[in-house]
Amino acid sequence: MAIRGILKMGNPDLLKVSEPITDFNDAELFSLIDDMIETMKANDGAGLAAPQIGVFKRLVIFGFDQNDRYPDAEAVPFTVLINPEIKPLSDELENGWEGCLSVPGLRGVVPRFKKIHYQGFDQYGDTISRTVEDFHARVVQHECDHLDGILYPMKIEDYRYFGFHEEIFKE
Ligand code: NI
Repeated sequence: MAIRGILKMGNPDLLKVSEPITDFNDAELFSLIDDMIETMKANDGAGLAAPQIGVFKRLVIFGFDQNDRYPDAEAVPFTVLINPEIKPLSDELENGWEGCLSVPGLRGVVPRFKKIHYQGFDQYGDTISRTVEDFHARVVQHECDHLDGILYPMKIEDYRYFGFHEEIFKE
């Protein structure tokens, strides 16, 4: 296991579209996931997508019981999600604050679908199929956007609500 470097916004590699994973139950895949878990934890992240560490595969991890970066967020079960597909269950959008380990120090308000169904596979090739809403739905949409080269600042609609975490959330 190793903590890997995280690509930062401005690095053109973050704009790549990642490739589907075809080999499950595979030592190389397990090792990649171990590194992603360690890297996410070391940075206190709520999620991490493989392209953020320079691996352009359709793999994201997310989840936490309690997260210092999102103290008011509901718990999200720890999940390894491969080749994900997201389907919005209504047109309803919800605004919420987001941050990203590839955009350190900043936060922005992003509209996301409030309620979605997502499916994909875990590292063993077993199907994951869930209907979720609110912060869980937001995290999944944020992480899966990375697989298509999309960073949350590209989806901000009102730049009055984009800035440094320490300024926005100061007491
Ligand atoms: Ni991110």
